[in-house]
Amino acid sequence: MSTSTGFNRRSFLQSAGLTALAGASGGVALAGSASAQAAGSTHIPMKGGRYDFDTVYDRRNTNTARWDGPSRDFPEGVFRYGMGVATMDFECAPCITEALTARVQHHTWGYMASTDGLRDGIIKWNGERHGLDLDPRELVISDGVYPGMIAALRTLVPRNNKALIMSPAYSGFYSMVKAARIDYVDSPMALKNGRFEIDWADLERKMTPDVRVLILCNPQNPTGNVWREEELLRLGRLALEHKIVVLSDEIHGDFVRKGHRYVPFATLKDQPVVENSITCNAISKTFNLAGMKNAYFYSKSSVLLERVKQYHRAELSTLGVVANEAAYAEGQDWFNQARDYIDGTHDLVEQTVKAKMPQVGYVRNEGTFMTFLNFGKVIKAIDPSELAQYGGKTPEENFQDWLTYKAGVYLNAGSVYGEGSDGYMRMNVASARSVVSGSLDAIAGAIKGL
Ligand SMILES: Cc1ncc(COP(=O)(O)O)c(C=O)c1O
Repeated sequence: MSTSTGFNRRSFLQSAGLTALAGASGGVALAGSASAQAAGSTHIPMKGGRYDFDTVYDRRNTNTARWDGPSRDFPEGVFRYGMGVATMDFECAPCITEALTARVQHHTWGYMASTDGLRDGIIKWNGERHGLDLDPRELVISDGVYPGMIAALRTLVPRNNKALIMSPAYSGFYSMVKAARIDYVDSPMALKNGRFEIDWADLERKMTPDVRVLILCNPQNPTGNVWREEELLRLGRLALEHKIVVLSDEIHGDFVRKGHRYVPFATLKDQPVVENSITCNAISKTFNLAGMKNAYFYSKSSVLLERVKQYHRAELSTLGVVANEAAYAEGQDWFNQARDYIDGTHDLVEQTVKAKMPQVGYVRNEGTFMTFLNFGKVIKAIDPSELAQYGGKTPEENFQDWLTYKAGVYLNAGSVYGEGSDGYMRMNVASARSVVSGSLDAIAGAIKGL
């Protein structure tokens, strides 16, 4: 994990006369006019009943983590493509904007009376799309996946005990265990025939008595695994045998590529396994609503659920509830089209990486809108003293800055995803295809000849 060291890397990057700067090209990547959009004319109309994901939706200068975060760390003109943080660049589903606009006309913002509408939406969405049968009493509404996960970790893992994580795994898991003041152990997966596979022997070896929770990421960010029913059952049975509760984060569940199926852990056909689990979820990835702070968790075990609830506290915002209710109720068509568009973009990424940067390892992912690229050979080919000047804690962090200076493309450094991530960088592909191919071309140009 990347942590602060006292050394101010941000101001260093801002001011350094780095040799890499010579490689940076100026200009911006995006076709849309940021100033026109900032002025409010941001709506992209449908074309022939299809949502238009091709027209670039410029999110710059809206205080967005993906675009406005990294740009602050580099001199003007260096950063061009924000291909990191897991939010999509598309304009949101129109039903969301319509519902928000209608609610804003009513000028009061006191406490809400209930979240029943939201509950109904969650139950219907999961039932109809994923075959999950949820009772409202099994469901707890939250303001993010984090608060539910942290509450579960605090409840289920005593101090000096551990959570087990199959890595490479979402970087947030490592901050969750920290927030819960517990330890963790990684079980690194191994790349076999182009897929990250669970190392079952290692996993079981690490299921020691002090491990109390297995954090599952279903589908797995950043490796893109969509876990199969038999894999989930095997995990669930092993966990049960070792008295380890399964804590399943299923926030990417709706993003599954053609030919794959998302299996909610709680739909497994083994009741004791299901009752030994808690699932955290949200549609904040599905509809790009991360800033609207809305999520939920559930368990088929009322005992587990009641225990976790004691450590959980969340407050929702009116607009967040309105936006999420609208998405659950009317967003299906928009999402199905967005998901299919991203599926096609994954194909584009695969073809481009294989054709234009043969030294980069491609892992064909089964779900999520991220892709995990192996730049290990490229990183090794760069003069270590050139990389070291960036002052990062890992080669991947240094390469992140190197690539931003050389190509203007900002990716997430693999080293934040735990063991087994050496050499990897995570790229977000949920953008207009011209932005994705523009950023890939820029990367290919920067690493050519290495
Ligand atoms: C696997 C996973 N879990 C949780 C989150 C964050 O969830 P939230 O913003 O609801 O806390 C993310 C965000 O990228 C994620 O990828």
